[in-house]
Amino acid sequence: MNEAAIEAHGIGRVFESRKGFLMQERVRTVALDGVELSVRPGELFGLLGPNGAGKTTLTKILSTLLLPTRGQAKVLGVDVARNPELVRPRIGLVLGGERGLYNRVSARENLRYFADLFGIPVERREPRIVEVLARVGLTDSADRRVEEFSRGMKQKLHLARGILHWPQVLFLDEPTIGLDPRSARETRKLVRGLVSDGVTIFLTTHYMFEAEELCHRIAVLGHGKIIATDTVAALRQLVGGDRTFEVEGYGFEDAELAQLRRLPGVSKIVSEEFGPRLRLTLRVRTREIVPEDIRGVLLNHAELSVRERGTSLEDVYLDLVEEGT
Ligand SMILES: Nc1ncnc2c1ncn2[C@@H]1O[C@H](COP(=O)(O)OP(=O)(O)OP(=O)(O)O)[C@@H](O)[C@H]1O
Ligand SMILES: [Mg+2]
Repeated sequence: MNEAAIEAHGIGRVFESRKGFLMQERVRTVALDGVELSVRPGELFGLLGPNGAGKTTLTKILSTLLLPTRGQAKVLGVDVARNPELVRPRIGLVLGGERGLYNRVSARENLRYFADLFGIPVERREPRIVEVLARVGLTDSADRRVEEFSRGMKQKLHLARGILHWPQVLFLDEPTIGLDPRSARETRKLVRGLVSDGVTIFLTTHYMFEAEELCHRIAVLGHGKIIATDTVAALRQLVGGDRTFEVEGYGFEDAELAQLRRLPGVSKIVSEEFGPRLRLTLRVRTREIVPEDIRGVLLNHAELSVRERGTSLEDVYLDLVEEGT
């Protein structure tokens, strides 16, 4: 099958609300403004973007929870706005938060309820519930009432619910938010396991290492539009290379900066104050430059520090988001 698992063309979403004295003032928020994307079957696709960029809105539209105000989206070849009832049984959604769970009953009873809702046959239901509770690490709390659960435990129960009915496509909106480091790691392992089972995953996160560790491809959303979509390696090249030098000292001359810019492979230099010192961040495309080349340009500086590191996804993200503003 060559068809995309998820595709969006020109997706826009405007929210109209009211505020102010007697709610007389109309506010129009453009949350999404022409989103284009395509996720391949079996792919783990990450969506990054600042707070308010529209990630949750897009996740809700793709998972049939919210209608777009323009554009078209398909999941597994089915139009999400026209045939949501055909999409829903085949997808899972984990939005997290406190809502959507029954607090007065146990985790197991919650999952029984959702299993019935998904139409899971009764004879498959109990073993499946045991299996998903184990996969999210809730076996020991299975029979406790959800109102006694911590935030992280609720998040795990949301995950269990999201995968209960063997969805082919899973939408995860910040799946590890509020989880302790070990639980977050277990969750990432679960996500990788689902990918090896062939599940297509659409994930949003603010944790750069998580996106870098998990995702095959990443899209960055800013002001309702996709700024870039690619593998992390390709995105590193897009923002100027996979090597980054951090140079710190007490003030640099314009002539020195110009000389640094002329070094082979230097694609970008950003200068920022770093306490009493100045920090230059150099993005470098080629293997040619070594720290001595940089020291060579900045010979007159005492207490100069030159450090090389790989360009991180955080660097990539910040560059892309800044360029998009
Ligand atoms: N129901 C709503 N009514 C009005 N405006 C809304 C509504 N839902 C979202 N918005 C607005 O749409 C924009 C996008 O919000 P969204 O929740 O999709 O962002 P996000 O990328 O998920 O942010 P975060 O990283 O904080 O979760 C924001 O400006 C938000 O205020
Ligand atoms: Mg969100």
